[in-house]
Amino acid sequence: AQEKPAGSPLLGFQAIAASTADEIVVAPGYRADVLISWGDPLVNGAAAFDPQGNNSAEDQEKQFGDNNDGMSFFAINDHRGVMAINNEYVNEPTLFAHGGSKATSLEDVKKSQAAHGISIVEVKRGEDNRWQVVRPSDYNRRITANTPMRFSGPAAGDKALQTAADPQGMHVLGTFGNCANGKTPWGTYLTCEENYDTYFGTHQADFTPTPQQKRYTLNAAEPERNWADFDPRFDIAKNPNEFNRHGWIVEIDPFDPHSVPVKRTALGRFKHENAAVTVAKTGQLVVYMGDDERGEYIYKFVSDDKVTPDDAKANHGLLDKGTLYVAQFNGDAQGTPLKGTGRWLALTWGENGLTAEKGFNSQADVLINARAAADVVNATRMDRPEWIAVNPHDGRAYCTLTNNNKRGNEGMPVNAANPRPKNIYGQIIRWDEKGDATAQTFEWDIYALCGNPIAHPEGIYRGTPNITAENTFNSPDGLGFDAQGRLWILTDGKYSNKEDYQGQGNNQMLVGDPDSGEIRRFMVGPKSCELTGITFTPDYKTLFVNVQHPGEEGDSHFPDNSPRPRSSVIMITREDGGIIGA
Ligand code: FEO
Ligand code: CA
Ligand code: CA
Ligand code: CA
Repeated sequence: AQEKPAGSPLLGFQAIAASTADEIVVAPGYRADVLISWGDPLVNGAAAFDPQGNNSAEDQEKQFGDNNDGMSFFAINDHRGVMAINNEYVNEPTLFAHGGSKATSLEDVKKSQAAHGISIVEVKRGEDNRWQVVRPSDYNRRITANTPMRFSGPAAGDKALQTAADPQGMHVLGTFGNCANGKTPWGTYLTCEENYDTYFGTHQADFTPTPQQKRYTLNAAEPERNWADFDPRFDIAKNPNEFNRHGWIVEIDPFDPHSVPVKRTALGRFKHENAAVTVAKTGQLVVYMGDDERGEYIYKFVSDDKVTPDDAKANHGLLDKGTLYVAQFNGDAQGTPLKGTGRWLALTWGENGLTAEKGFNSQADVLINARAAADVVNATRMDRPEWIAVNPHDGRAYCTLTNNNKRGNEGMPVNAANPRPKNIYGQIIRWDEKGDATAQTFEWDIYALCGNPIAHPEGIYRGTPNITAENTFNSPDGLGFDAQGRLWILTDGKYSNKEDYQGQGNNQMLVGDPDSGEIRRFMVGPKSCELTGITFTPDYKTLFVNVQHPGEEGDSHFPDNSPRPRSSVIMITREDGGIIGA
């Protein structure tokens, strides 16, 4: 065992320095190993990964997907488990053998679609708390942008979800932009559809987007991905309603490889980051959710019914009936007191002005256009809500507001919870519902106003006192609590290591003490990656974390000097076999 450093008794490891190296750095006494990387064979019969990028779309359908993001570990027993892992998107120049940034054929589009979605991976415990992928395995499965799914909840079957291919509006193909995740108490996985708008486009010259499409930032003339060039499903002019069939939270049973994933419309449609699930004292399920875009909102869903523990079937429809709320953060924006009170405003049709006069004719309308409904009730425009995590000890919820360089511009004034103009560093906000997760009101404060005391020794860009020259970071994104109440903070920010970002190095993972506020750097990723997607084994002796898109701006050979950089799932273990972080 190592000597405990001074400071918080909760943080048992030595802080590490910032790094700009093309490798993982972890705290002394820990090690990092790759569990699985993009393109590794997964489903039975899969082809080997081709480092030159020549794997076909058909190959990719059976291989581990790209850009692994949120994930959950589901234990089967002490030495076996199943992991559900999001594959958020692709880096085209890495995915395609031709190295271009656009798909040049239907085959390219199909390969891209096959690299998106979710990978279900059986794992078994190996030596020293390190785990291995089980192959072959009947659990291993790929869910892609073309996997059949169904809708449930109030918007299922709504006119706005009906297409020529699905006149009933009940069945949909696929999921993509799967950012982060959640895990239900009944052992299912929630995957969250985030930047789905970037997959829709058209060349139809006279196309003009509707206000609803604009509200979800559709850029049809120059979509980030050109799927529509070869797959008419994504041509917004030809199939306008297909757009409404994405932006949901999807529930997946990781233990049944034949199960049909379900898009749960009661949770609303927006650019979902993650789904932080907790059971209220009443037994109702509560899901906190962020909508990651500048000036968008924080939501919570409260189920009507109570959770039945240890009975997956009994909870089958739990996510279909309940109330969706959106958050209003109040307080004094002057003098940055960094605390205040708040309210949860119900997005229920017929209430709070959500009526036909405002264009809402049903609860389905409210859910499909959740952003517009939240506008009507006067929710607070936040600095890009990313992950939310609930402290298991006191029920307080924490949310990363990653950054917002437009804060303070016209139409986006500072407010108490988002107090800084040109907010390039972000903040972590938390709210306290006094132990009642169904509450309609809360108190909030800022756990960390991120900043850089090296670049800005004084003033609002310095950050709160728990930010130091030793732990400075920008753009908190991934977030998770372990059972002992350590707050794990992962970053997706600028890694120039210059000027405003000097001394911060590559993206990183830090650990915070929720009570003292102390934050210590635990891990740094390789070049131009994001660290994301934290999950633990039930004994907390293995931590899994994702290196996402290493080398997205070139110059990385992660892992293992690979000719093409590869997003990978990493496992962190302790050389003495102890609990991670303790
Ligand atoms: Fe996929 Fe908001 O991060
Ligand atoms: Ca994120
Ligand atoms: Ca981010
Ligand atoms: Ca990313």
